[in-house]
Amino acid sequence: MDKHRIPAAGRSISRRLFLRDSAVVLGGGLLAHPLFAATQGCRPTDGDILGPYYRFGVPFQARLAGPEEPGERLIVTGTVFSEDCKTPLPGALVEVWQANSAGLYDTEKPGNFTENERFHLRGMLYTDEQGRYRIETVVPGRYPIPPNLPGLEKYAGMTRPAHIHFRVMESLHVPLTMQLYFKGDPFIAKDPWAGEKPSNVITLEQDGKLRRGVYDFVLARGF
Ligand SMILES: [Fe+2]
Repeated sequence: MDKHRIPAAGRSISRRLFLRDSAVVLGGGLLAHPLFAATQGCRPTDGDILGPYYRFGVPFQARLAGPEEPGERLIVTGTVFSEDCKTPLPGALVEVWQANSAGLYDTEKPGNFTENERFHLRGMLYTDEQGRYRIETVVPGRYPIPPNLPGLEKYAGMTRPAHIHFRVMESLHVPLTMQLYFKGDPFIAKDPWAGEKPSNVITLEQDGKLRRGVYDFVLARGF
């Protein structure tokens, strides 16, 4: 096996994720919650750095990658919950951005937040009536931290584990910025961000040629 490939889930975990995914697909928000609570405990999702490649003004789209996009197809689904881990949040704004399978973003200008042309592998969406989201994309590649990033100079050249960035916002809750990582990635342990957040590491199930992941966000109440 390619040592850089993120392994598929083990059998028991795959089944658990499959059942959770099925519950989400069937609209079973109440079914999804107990499994969430049982596997991860109930607390707000750990935040993470925004990173240098965030950009404002991305288009509303949940399909980040078309069929021509190189890489392994990936579908990530889940629910945005309030801090009790059981009240879904419809209409939460979910922003997502990531590198392509070769580890490249659509901009080579870190920190150029307002550039608004040629958005690629980025999008935003609102959660549905059950607080659910679904994105279609490809498994992102790893990339080295570029040199001369203000505040991150000491990490220059270090390889980041594969990840997808999210920002999740809802009017009565504290906005969340986080990164989602993938179990089995050998670069997680030494990463100064991923290594401290095991709850933000998910297993990707293999489903034919697809990879599937499930992740539920929990937002702290704003008052
Ligand atoms: Fe990143």
